[in-house]
Amino acid sequence: MNPRDYELEPFWMPFTANRQFKAAPRILVSARDMHFIAEDGRRILDGTAGLWCVNAGHCRPKIVEAIRRQAGTLDYSPLFQMGHPGEFRAAALIAQLAPEGLDRVFFTNSGSEAVDTALKIALAYHRSRGDGHRNVLIGRERGYHGVGFGGISVGGIPANRRAFGNMLARIDHLPHTHNLERNAFSRGQPAWGAHLADDLETRIIALHDASSIAAVIVEPVAGSTGVLVPPKGYLERLRALCDQYGLLLIFDEVITGFGRTGRAFAAQTFGVTPDMITFAKGVTSGAVPLAGVVVRREIYDTVVNGAPPDMVELFHGYTYSGHPLATAAAEATLALYHEEKLFDRARELAPCFEQAVHSLKGANHVIDIRNFGLMAGIELAPLPGKPGARGFQAFLRCFEKGIMTRVTGDIIALSPPFIISEQQIDELVGTLADVLREMAGKKL
Ligand SMILES: Cc1ncc(COP(=O)(O)O)c(C=O)c1O
Repeated sequence: MNPRDYELEPFWMPFTANRQFKAAPRILVSARDMHFIAEDGRRILDGTAGLWCVNAGHCRPKIVEAIRRQAGTLDYSPLFQMGHPGEFRAAALIAQLAPEGLDRVFFTNSGSEAVDTALKIALAYHRSRGDGHRNVLIGRERGYHGVGFGGISVGGIPANRRAFGNMLARIDHLPHTHNLERNAFSRGQPAWGAHLADDLETRIIALHDASSIAAVIVEPVAGSTGVLVPPKGYLERLRALCDQYGLLLIFDEVITGFGRTGRAFAAQTFGVTPDMITFAKGVTSGAVPLAGVVVRREIYDTVVNGAPPDMVELFHGYTYSGHPLATAAAEATLALYHEEKLFDRARELAPCFEQAVHSLKGANHVIDIRNFGLMAGIELAPLPGKPGARGFQAFLRCFEKGIMTRVTGDIIALSPPFIISEQQIDELVGTLADVLREMAGKKL
């Protein structure tokens, strides 16, 4: 192993048990296509596309070259009251991929910022229409919408909220759709649970009154809380209720965007069109941070035309909203997706992936397996009194055996890059099966 030329202590690691990690670090030093290289030289098969983002695989030469070229041409340009060609081109490419009617793009740097931006646009839109009293925002239990105050407010993960006191004031949550008794081991969309969307009408609208509610935000497939696939008919009902009561529907597609479900956006896979889509991650295949919101044209027109022509219409934006390196990476990534037909590939691999992950049924501790597109959640029974411990052990052992998985509580999530081969799917799932078998004899 190379001696490290850096200290571990100064860096406060995100969403990491710092003391545990620093006692036994897992350091990655390079990557190519489907593999990471760890500091001890081991090849690690990437079963998670990094953090759900490296959809095209690692260090793809065309993306690398585009970033390199841009860094030497225009490293930065002011993004307020100024423009550069890349941000307009990237916005047009994203608009072309989005569902019909959604064709205006606001750039941010992270999914968290995209969510806060979408919530603000919803409020600004209603205000521009003279309906400014619509300011209640509706999220969902077990939703993950990043870590800004907007995102944790509409999000539904208790641990992400606990330490931080006040959330946004006017918030409510739909119930989540996870139900092991009814839906365990569903392949694709579960049959049971569409009625859970009715809570929007029977409880939330009844309580707050529709005239107070600005928007509903959900992930079409909840990723971070363990791949919760929407029951058949659920998203359709949410859409119908939002239409009936004049609420905006926002799909947070930070994970599902850019091919994860076999089409550019999950909205298209499910055939349900929201009013706004938040995106991030896959837009640059993770190579440079870029994120944003695609909005229905009428929303843009209402906000923009509602202000005097020489006035800033939306008092919102980031120093790096549409950074030249990020938009160059996006242009190259979207071209690569197109050239290699990678969204089609994700769709074509999905049945093989489904077959492979469901072969884990009956494996030690496995209480549910669910999948959609190239994403799957394998839920383990929690160790009594130690939720998350078993999942984390499985993750560690997988890493030791050369595969990257993601763990959330006791749920192992898989979401490989779309360039994965069928043999690599077998390797991924086979290694996980070995790990679960080995854990059978042990206390964990
Ligand atoms: C659905 C969803 N929204 C928002 C975010 C936050 O994105 P970021 O970590 O880029 O802020 C994530 C991150 O995984 C996500 O999955």
